[in-house]
Amino acid sequence: MREKVRIFLQEQEINARIAQVAKQISEDYADREVHLICVLKGSVFFMCELAKRITVPVTMDFMSVSSYGSDTKSSGVVKIVKDLDEPLDGKDVLIVEDIVDSGRTLSYLIDILGKRNPRSLKLCTLLDKPDRRVTSVQVDYTCFDIPDEFVVGYGLDYAQKYRNLPFVGIVEFVGE
Ligand code: IMP
Ligand code: MG
Repeated sequence: MREKVRIFLQEQEINARIAQVAKQISEDYADREVHLICVLKGSVFFMCELAKRITVPVTMDFMSVSSYGSDTKSSGVVKIVKDLDEPLDGKDVLIVEDIVDSGRTLSYLIDILGKRNPRSLKLCTLLDKPDRRVTSVQVDYTCFDIPDEFVVGYGLDYAQKYRNLPFVGIVEFVGE
């Protein structure tokens, strides 16, 4: 089986939508600082584009998590592979995710980070697949709701490939 990638969201469309969401965030956090948390690696591209368009002061930190369980099904138990560098006490924290799928990873992450005394804790995602939700999570900012398809690009990978595509594409598997 070989995979083919069909364009689903063009770069221009994505960036235009990110600009809208960044504007909303800038309004919601007026007179405050927003502490962005990038969940590596998928959220890197999105977080950079988002951060550049936010007009209130921004600080950033990065964490990496891996979920226990099979490759295709996350168990909901998340192992912190790389923790944040800075404490969250008193900060207005915004978790930046590439995609919310079952919601398991994020509900666990929100739980862990919520215990570190942030002043507020919100969630922003580039993509959301609401049909796939198993654990409910409150997503405060969503750029795009998408159907239940496997997507790559703009940071998202299939077997670590395609993260650098400037668009979001749907992976199609074709016979040799
Ligand atoms: P969940 O919400 O706990 O099921 O896991 C979300 C994680 O699964 C995301 O952060 C991605 O790493 C990965 N994921 C889910 N759907 C896709 C997809 O369509 N393409 C690439 N990665 C995905
Ligand atoms: Mg992710």
